Amino acid sequence: MTDQNNKIPFEEDNYTHNIDRNNERMLDRRGFMKTLVGAAGLFAVSSLPWGAVAAKELMNLGDKEYPKTKIADVKNVAIGDSVDFSFPSEHDSAILIRLSEKKYVAFQNACTHLRCPVFWKKEEGEMICPCHHGKFEAHTGVPTAGPPRRPLPEIVVKIENGSIYAVRVKRYEA
Ligand code: FES
Repeated sequence: MTDQNNKIPFEEDNYTHNIDRNNERMLDRRGFMKTLVGAAGLFAVSSLPWGAVAAKELMNLGDKEYPKTKIADVKNVAIGDSVDFSFPSEHDSAILIRLSEKKYVAFQNACTHLRCPVFWKKEEGEMICPCHHGKFEAHTGVPTAGPPRRPLPEIVVKIENGSIYAVRVKRYEA
């Protein structure tokens, strides 16, 4: 005769039978999401100072005065014509347009989409980017057609003693 109380009630070789596997999976997912959110938060916080530095750098660029650069003599630019020049460095190509007797506008002419050179199309009264049919309004440099979303950086010009000078880049200003 055997003593039933001393026996294991059933064959036990799996010690995880009491774990709810669905819950276990949920915990895994929750844990993963927490890790993901934590990592995103950490990235955002750690990149904040760099964003601030970059913004400051761009703001300084917008406010910065450069040595004035002669673009052309007034008498050599007819109303409706344009002149290509570089400002502030020789690598920053730009365009001056004489819109009326006294109105001159100038912009850095690297397209704000993918940096193709933008040119003045007198007959259309707009600046055109040939790469993807981008167009920019001549008074403000604001995009009016095609993929560009940001205006061309404006260059402040000054007339002195019959000559036109570039003096400042109004980058990132409205
Ligand atoms: S580069 Fe000017 S529209 Fe694409």
